Amino acid sequence: MSTQTQKVAVITGASQGIGAGLVVAYRKLGYAVVATSRSIAASQDPEILTIQGDIADRATAERIIAAGLERFGRIDTLVNNAGIFISNAFTDFSRNEYDAVLGVNLTGFFRITQLAIQQMLTQGGGHVIQITSTLADRANSHVNSALAALTKGGLQSATRALAIEYATRGIRSNAIALGTIKTPMTEGYWDVLAGLHPVGRLGEVSDVVDAAIYLENAPFVTGEILHVDGGQIAGH
Ligand SMILES: NC(=O)c1ccc[n+]([C@@H]2O[C@H](COP(=O)([O-])OP(=O)(O)OC[C@H]3O[C@@H](n4cnc5c(N)ncnc54)[C@H](OP(=O)(O)O)[C@@H]3O)[C@@H](O)[C@H]2O)c1
Repeated sequence: MSTQTQKVAVITGASQGIGAGLVVAYRKLGYAVVATSRSIAASQDPEILTIQGDIADRATAERIIAAGLERFGRIDTLVNNAGIFISNAFTDFSRNEYDAVLGVNLTGFFRITQLAIQQMLTQGGGHVIQITSTLADRANSHVNSALAALTKGGLQSATRALAIEYATRGIRSNAIALGTIKTPMTEGYWDVLAGLHPVGRLGEVSDVVDAAIYLENAPFVTGEILHVDGGQIAGH
């Protein structure tokens, strides 16, 4: 068990890409980290607890929060980063695709956030961050994205609802809405996707990490949808 004053972050989707970058960043900030995904490997760092599981399963959320509290005793930040993206023509989305995207992106947010906020209330404060997509705000004719819009748009609305519900109880809720970031999720499409950004290039994991660290250190900021998207939110 770490000291009571050491802050603790729970990061979902932490095995690779943005989530793996966030684990490193929160450790550098001095947080202990509960890192979770289906395939995440054990860490040599005693301040990183890894938990395997499918975040679409509510029981996984319950295991993550229980194990995190048992090991570190508190939860200060939850980053809802686990997510999947499936592009298809709207009328071609299969039942399985619908279930998969809603399962990870929405169900995967819901139960763990309930449990984390319950704990934050007992501590008198905390912070939840959702990782979303500018496609929820600005549809793009090059990328069919109805399920991304449905789920990430829902997360953005919930981000603001939670910000208001808990504003006077010390819990902040923010989202980081992304353009295309160079991660395993987007590998193979980097050349074609770069041109969809006004700045003419893709984002790096470090761009997302910088935004998370900013939000972490911004106590007057809640209900914010911070766009890290190379200008996509502004237009094209
Ligand atoms: N990269 C982009 O351009 C981009 C753009 C907009 C939004 N985003 C959002 O940013 C977040 C991170 O994306 P990324 O690019 O880092 O993706 P990524 O490289 O594909 O990583 C996704 C992470 O989520 C985990 N994950 C996937 N399905 C899961 C499940 N059922 N249960 C638990 N964990 C699961 C994966 O680990 P396991 O396979 O081990 O489970 C992995 O750690 C996502 O929410 C994504 O929608 C990314």
